[in-house]
Amino acid sequence: MRKILTSKWTKVFVFLACSIPFLQLCAKALQGNLGINPVETLQHTTGDWTLDFLVITLSITPLRKIFKLPELIRFRRMLGLFAFFYVVMHFLTYLGPDQNFNFSGMWDDVAKRKFVTVGFAALLFMIPLAATSTTGMIRRLGGKRWQALHRLVYVCAILGVIHYYWLVKSDVRKPLIYAFCVAILLLWRVWDSYFHGKKSSPAPARTVAAD
Ligand code: HEM
Repeated sequence: MRKILTSKWTKVFVFLACSIPFLQLCAKALQGNLGINPVETLQHTTGDWTLDFLVITLSITPLRKIFKLPELIRFRRMLGLFAFFYVVMHFLTYLGPDQNFNFSGMWDDVAKRKFVTVGFAALLFMIPLAATSTTGMIRRLGGKRWQALHRLVYVCAILGVIHYYWLVKSDVRKPLIYAFCVAILLLWRVWDSYFHGKKSSPAPARTVAAD
């Protein structure tokens, strides 16, 4: 298992796997196969994948600690950056096809519709996380400050869930499933830092990403 996790090919494989939703969307768009409402399909697919990648990124630390697989950390930065990539795509489908790049209309919408306000806040919080994901930035900020900043990823996930919950009109099952996942991951973190906080040694600066 460790051999697989440390292989450079596994990283390539994970990268390709994370790109599949995007490539599938591109293929469908080129074939004109995005359904009756292509903008809605793009918005919903990219929104779903943003939340999926946020949850997967937040799962890395619990998984690596529970299964004693420190090598899993190698994939966390990439997964977090894919969450950012999909939220940017999500935002662009909103700004472009939905709002026709009309920034004043967008600001009105951000101010008026509370689910857009919350989604926009989540996007803003994700920017410093992506910008400080490089090894150089980790070194510059220092492990502790970097880790404190990257706790924002929980805020992004919570805001993402609220955004989803507020935008659905009737069937709230999917946002509630995401809410449950984020709550479990948060509670695990609180439990872990309460019981093991002082014992666990910090991950090396080079590999730390959204612990
Ligand atoms: C972390 C940030 C965000 C996450 C996790 C997120 C997630 C989602 C999800 C899961 C959906 C619904 C997908 C579905 O129905 O299957 C959605 C829809 C949508 N999101 Fe976001 N989103 C984020 C940021 C944003 C931003 C920044 C904007 C625009 C400023 C935005 C605008 C929208 C719109 C307009 C919809 C479609 C609403 C509708 O169908 O009525 N989102 N988003």
